[in-house]
Amino acid sequence: MLRSCILAAAALVLVVNVASAQDKVARGAAVYAEQKCQLCHAIAGKGNAKGPLDAVGTKLSAADLKAWLVDAKGMTAKTKATRKPDMKSYTLPDADVDALVAYMLTLKK
Ligand code: HEC
Repeated sequence: MLRSCILAAAALVLVVNVASAQDKVARGAAVYAEQKCQLCHAIAGKGNAKGPLDAVGTKLSAADLKAWLVDAKGMTAKTKATRKPDMKSYTLPDADVDALVAYMLTLKK
């Protein structure tokens, strides 16, 4: 009896975790739209074709993705990116940055 209770609780935790991970990605996609990132970037052919992000989840680590979102100027200098207009540094709430990173990590090719 106790054992099955523990198993049920573990299964519940698992389901809740998966659900919140999906919520995070959905929130990230919403932040991307709210912040109009598509003015300079494209995902799945929608937006500015000069800045495709379709494979960015393969190309960049979570740490680098986060760095772009909190310190775009620093990353522009570090990567010697030359495309204009360059990316401005955003000051988004931590939860939105985390959500954007989670979303970008799903963009793989
Ligand atoms: C004013 C234009 C502009 C806007 C708006 C903008 N970016 Fe950028 N972003 C750039 C430029 C320029 C680079 C440098 C790399 C390049 O040339 O694409 C870049 C780089 C990036 C990178 C690294 C790409 C890579 O291939 O290494 C990510 C990730 C990124 N931006 C995400 C975002 C997100 C998310 C938003 C919205 C919150 C956003 N950007 C808004 C111009 C912009």
